Amino acid sequence: MLIKTDRQGFDHPIPSEIAPAAAYAGRRGFLKALAAGAGGATLAAWAQREAFAQVQRPGKLAPLNTIKSNVAGATTVEKLTPYLDASSYNNYYEFGTDKSDPVRNAHTLKPTPWTVEVEGLVKKPGKYALEDLHKLAGLEERIYRLRCVEGWSMVIPWVGYSFATLAQRVEPLGNAKYVEFLTLADPKQMGYLNTRILDYPYVEGLRMDEAMHPLTLLTFGMYGEVLPNQNGAPVRIVVPWKYGFKSGKSIVKIRFVEREPKTAWNKSAPGEYGFYSNVNPNVDHPRWSQATERRIGEDGLFAKKRKTLMFNGYEAQVGQMYAGMDLKKFY
Ligand code: MTE
Repeated sequence: MLIKTDRQGFDHPIPSEIAPAAAYAGRRGFLKALAAGAGGATLAAWAQREAFAQVQRPGKLAPLNTIKSNVAGATTVEKLTPYLDASSYNNYYEFGTDKSDPVRNAHTLKPTPWTVEVEGLVKKPGKYALEDLHKLAGLEERIYRLRCVEGWSMVIPWVGYSFATLAQRVEPLGNAKYVEFLTLADPKQMGYLNTRILDYPYVEGLRMDEAMHPLTLLTFGMYGEVLPNQNGAPVRIVVPWKYGFKSGKSIVKIRFVEREPKTAWNKSAPGEYGFYSNVNPNVDHPRWSQATERRIGEDGLFAKKRKTLMFNGYEAQVGQMYAGMDLKKFY
């Protein structure tokens, strides 16, 4: 994320535009030269990331009978982002603000045992052990585009099932209008909770119809394996038509509520990050355009950026939920 907020009087320049593009251009000499000048901090971080080329893979997800999803929009013929990139170029601020930090620091997270508490406006609140969540429904592979608000994207095969399956199990009450996702905030496991950029726990939220949309994925794995810590182990949400920050990692509590939840980035910089945060090439971020993006692992520094698609390409599936809404106002 890039953030300028008066709250902390802190301009947080993570030049995500420079780092991935240069890195993928594969021009090491050029990289070194660049690293000495503007964007050097991030490029240096990228170089460090390269030293981590051996990402620890947590292994197979049990049960292994993951099936290909037949939910509309859940597959794409686009090239998958290499595992190494998807697992070492991450945003997970609880483990550091640089893209190369989570893969280095998230080993302190203990994803098992894990419990997710479901509470609020539901008939059947309860606590679910991770194993029970795994067993609640058949695991599906869904290949989704992930578009980060910073202007880059990836294509990742996620493993999970529709969040609606869990929601139906707990029977939301009629006055439940939103779902709030609260993620872990444990200083013993996370070394960067005191950076003052965000309030922790990291909170995200969806309107009820968005949460219940079949594309909204309760996610336990990627590339057929358990989620690596840096990608949000052991359970995260993935909402493919919204900017990546709506997809909260390492969820510990799911709350059904009547009022629109106060979400982490919205609280931190309300003029920059709205509640809806639907991918929208026609609504610029106050400080940069959202019309184009770079695909991590494919689009080199000198490649023309690709056009960002409305709702990240999922308009046919989700557009109807926003019919009649002014998406400039509800950004
Ligand atoms: N969840 C938590 N708890 N903390 C975070 O900092 N970053 C978000 C989102 N979920 C974040 C988070 C952002 S900005 C993005 S782009 C995605 O995670 C990145 O997911 P990925 O690392 O799997 O690509």
